[in-house]
Formats: sequence, C-alpha cells, structure tokens
Amino acid sequence: MFDKRISVAPMMGMTDRHFRFMASLLCDKISLYTPMIHVDAIIQSDKNFLQRENKDSKAVAIQIAGNDPNAASDASKVIKNCNYNEINLNIGCPSERVQNCKVGAALMDEPETVGQMVESIKHACDLPVTIKTRLGIDDLDSYEFLCEFIETTSNYGCDHYILHARKALLNGLSPKENRTIPPINYPRVYKIKEQYSDLTIEINGEIKDINEIEEHFKYVDGVMIGREACNNPLILREINSSIYEEKPIEMTEFFEKMFEYILKESNHGTGVHFITRHMTSLFKGMPGAKEWRNLSGGIESKKSSAEDLVKSMQLFVEDRFTQH
Ligand SMILES: Cc1cc2nc3c(=O)[nH]c(=O)nc-3n(C[C@H](O)[C@H](O)[C@H](O)COP(=O)(O)O)c2cc1C
Repeated sequence: MFDKRISVAPMMGMTDRHFRFMASLLCDKISLYTPMIHVDAIIQSDKNFLQRENKDSKAVAIQIAGNDPNAASDASKVIKNCNYNEINLNIGCPSERVQNCKVGAALMDEPETVGQMVESIKHACDLPVTIKTRLGIDDLDSYEFLCEFIETTSNYGCDHYILHARKALLNGLSPKENRTIPPINYPRVYKIKEQYSDLTIEINGEIKDINEIEEHFKYVDGVMIGREACNNPLILREINSSIYEEKPIEMTEFFEKMFEYILKESNHGTGVHFITRHMTSLFKGMPGAKEWRNLSGGIESKKSSAEDLVKSMQLFVEDRFTQH
C-alpha cells in the first residue's frame, strides 16, 4: 500500500475493463474499482464472467451490492479465485431501483446487516473488505449517525471506509442530482479520521485537481476521484508524476499501447467504440480537441473498421506530437 492512496471511483457504465486498462497506463499506482455488481449476478453468472471482466490487467477492487450476508459470502467465494485485490461494499448508491431492493445507501440505517455482510465476506476469503458510503441519508444526517454506522460495521471487521462527502436523499432526487445537490462536507470526513485514527479513511466527492488532492492528504489517508478521471483522464498522468513522483509515460508510447490494445481487442470481437469512447477527452483544451472527439467518439468510430480508425487516430497523434 502506498502512503498516498489515490483511487478512481467505481462508476457504472464508465470504469469498465477498457477504461481501467487506459487508467493503468497513465498511472500504474492508482487503485481501480469495477462498477457495482450485485452479489446475485456474481453467483448466477457463468464462472468465467468475473475472470473475463478483469483479464489482461492488474488486480483491481470489485464493488459489490447486496443485503444478504449468505449471498455475499457465496459471491466472495467466486471472487477470491479471480483477479481482484479488494471487495468493496456499496452502501452509497441512492438509485430508486437499488433502494427498492434495500441495497446501496438505503442500508446505512441497517449497520448490523452491513456488518454481518463484512463478517461473512471475511470468513469466505482473505481479501480486504472496504465500505463506500455517504455521510448519511435523508434526515439521518447527524455526525452521531455516521459514527454509529462506522462503529457498528468496524466491530464486524471493516477497517477501511471511502466516504462520499455528502448525504444521499433517497426520495425525490435522481442519482445524478444526488451527486450534486446535497452539499459537500469535507470537514465531517476529516473529523471522522481524527476520531477513528486507526481506521483508513478515504475521501470522495468533487475532487478535481492535484492541489485539492494534496490538501485532503493533510487530513485523510486516501483520495478517490470520480467524474474528473473520466472527463480528464490525463489527470491520472499528472498524479503519477506530481504525487507519486514517477516518470510519466510519453504520450506517443501511451497512444501506441492504446492502439495495440484496440487492435487486439477488436480481433477478439470487441467493438472498438467501447474502447475509444474513453479516449474522447484526451486532447481537451488543446488544439484539435473537437476533431479528436469526433474521431474517437463520433459516428465514424462506430462505423469504421478497427484498422481504419486506428490509422486515422495514429495520423492525428503523429501530427500533434511531431515537432514542426
Ligand atoms: C456515471 C456514474 C456512475 C456511478 N456508478 C457508481 C457505482 O457503480 N458505484 C458507486 O459506489 N458509485 C458510483 N458512482 C458515484 C461515484 O463513485 C462517486 O462517488 C461520485 O461520482 C462522487 O465523486 P466525484 O465527485 O469525484 O465524481 C457513479 C458516478 C457516476 C458519475
């Protein structure tokens, strides 16, 4: 574990294995998460599903959702034989669909159930178990409520929490609104770390640049970035050099590796668009940004063959990185 743990948040529809491949190239030390997967899907899916989901890459954390300790245990027995290095419990998702099944943020007021899930996962496998949650739900938003959640679940063996620094409103807000409307409260997360200094506390929510990351490290053990890593993946390269003090990958080498990956995946039947859609903002703020966005994410990227698309992207990149 690095002194400064930085991770990219689990994000449904975003942090798939193609995104994670790209993110690892830009910063090998970053911790990565799968999007949320329900424990029943893990148990019922064909045995190779989880292996396929994380093939060709370093071990990452898998985020699971559920509310049944036995099912969590069964899912963990599948997970432990695949390439994952952490099991993260989603106790923060506010979506209505998830609430109806009483998983995600709705479980914040059932800390005993969450604790029993932690315990059963720990019995089933040796992987570290972490919890990603909010500061509270609806009117259950006092500091004491959060403390009780943390104390109860840590008594069952959880010692690492990722706190999205705002509460969730379970009625009336969409998941998207729930990521912007409830106000951010970083000091509450800092206070949790101060009070529970033995626990690993990672902060999440609206973190967008290196200075902000450095500031949070004065108070907490880890920083999780979500949307900014998708909107501006090159922040990961900056983290690699500014925070981990590693030599950043040359952009030409980075693109070569991405192009190799696209061609290899395409030979295995992957639609190239599923990869290039993660690359659309790589020239954000630079000359040609719009042209690149259309090339990598526009309609042509869906219609062209992998070879043709890679050729066009190569030409664009050579033009940008060749000294004129
Ligand atoms: C498109 C999208 C999908 C998300 N899916 C998940 C998910 O599967 N599991 C989860 O715990 N959080 C999910 N989140 C929330 C993020 O993990 C993160 O907590 C949130 O975006 C706040 O961080 P940010 O302000 O840095 O983006 C998602 C967020 C977005 C934007």
